[in-house]
Amino acid sequence: MSSDHPNPHRNPQPRQLIIDTANFYMEGVGREGISRAELTAQATEIDQARQRVHAGSTAGLDAAYAALNLASEMPAQLPQIQEMAAGLRQHQDVLVVGIGGSSLGAKALQQAVAPQPPLAGTPRLHFVENIDPYFLQHLLSNLKAESTAVLCISKSGGTIETVVQYLILRDWLARQLGKDRARHHQWIITDPKNGWLRELAVREDLPSLPVPPQVGGRYSVLSAVGLVPLAVLGVDIDALLQGAADNAARCTNADIFSNPALEIAALCVLLDTRRGKRTAVMMPYVNRLQLFVDWYCQLWAESLGKWDRARPGSTPAGTLPVRAMGAVDQHSQLQMYLESRHDKFFTFIELETCEYDLPVPLDDFDVPHFPFLKGRSMAEVIDAEFRATRQVITDAGHPNMTIRLPVLNAHVLGQLIDLYQRATIYAGLLYGINPLDQPSVEIGKRLAIDYLRGTPR
Ligand code: PA5
Repeated sequence: MSSDHPNPHRNPQPRQLIIDTANFYMEGVGREGISRAELTAQATEIDQARQRVHAGSTAGLDAAYAALNLASEMPAQLPQIQEMAAGLRQHQDVLVVGIGGSSLGAKALQQAVAPQPPLAGTPRLHFVENIDPYFLQHLLSNLKAESTAVLCISKSGGTIETVVQYLILRDWLARQLGKDRARHHQWIITDPKNGWLRELAVREDLPSLPVPPQVGGRYSVLSAVGLVPLAVLGVDIDALLQGAADNAARCTNADIFSNPALEIAALCVLLDTRRGKRTAVMMPYVNRLQLFVDWYCQLWAESLGKWDRARPGSTPAGTLPVRAMGAVDQHSQLQMYLESRHDKFFTFIELETCEYDLPVPLDDFDVPHFPFLKGRSMAEVIDAEFRATRQVITDAGHPNMTIRLPVLNAHVLGQLIDLYQRATIYAGLLYGINPLDQPSVEIGKRLAIDYLRGTPR
């Protein structure tokens, strides 16, 4: 957050996430849950995973798990982040070109914690992700090149969707502004040394920032990848990083019951491997967390959906992440959850304090129809709906946990991001797979290029 932008969302007294895993256990949910004895029987493997993460996090941004160090390392780079954001803020519209890990985190945090209404002078951010000529054509027809900036984000610097859209946008700028002026409308975030985008940034002298080489796309939201777009919007990125650092400190404990990331990871893996829970439903009761769940889905799926066939006796790993939204999906997915297969576990997210609440106004005609609404507010209604859904899910024997957010601000979202990045890495190690790579996705990327060459196999 730059000092010239007072931020009403800053929480003067940061508060911790409340993480309630009771219903993941047999005591809470019955035989479909995990027993404390089962968990403690895995104590050696769980502690080995914890030690590997600890050992792999000791070399700052050069560490294997450098993503988990961004919260402590990035504050030193905030001046450069804010400088790039200030340049972008000179424009009315900023096109953030990137896909997957290069866009989902910033999009999620924009929805969750960007100041509303937008701070004066804040550009409109447009995320240009999917290849869709109709979308891009429509977007450009509403923009003026003189007041538009293009921020191209790609760790590899060669992702085909990003490259193609960036080339089109560069051409659009150049045709209207001339090549020289167009250069002043382009910013780059990519690997510090490798890739086409880095070469281009050097060749054209475009302002750029690095993505630390050891930080993969879906773990990069706390690097320049997420911080620059968020700083443009005036999100309190210091508080975001502080929240992540606070959660990291909370998750160093060797005692699994005092280390929420480790406990969540171990329970999710056991629910899959011991109870056949193949689907991980995340259901926030907060509209502004819809895109956070998209971010989580990518992180969980791309990190854990693996099968290390080289390891004797190995089986496929990972649980399919599914997004549900409370209360909307009570009217859509809940029936299936309650009566279909017992192959799911649930994570509910609820908000303790809603900044704005609205009383439910009833007149005399309405009261006899809805007497239970008398004197109630909207926040009380959604809270009752959440409690009821959690109870029927629990009564149906589905393991579930609840994360209670004290408020919705950057510090709290920083905690949530660190919690899930950490839990995902722990879970990968417990499954015996590498949570940082995505080997099968790469095969498809190469084949798409073969199709473009006209030589598919
Ligand atoms: O997590 C990942 O590595 C991927 O989802 C990438 O973020 C995505 O493929 C985009 O890659 P890049 O940032 O290299 O353009």
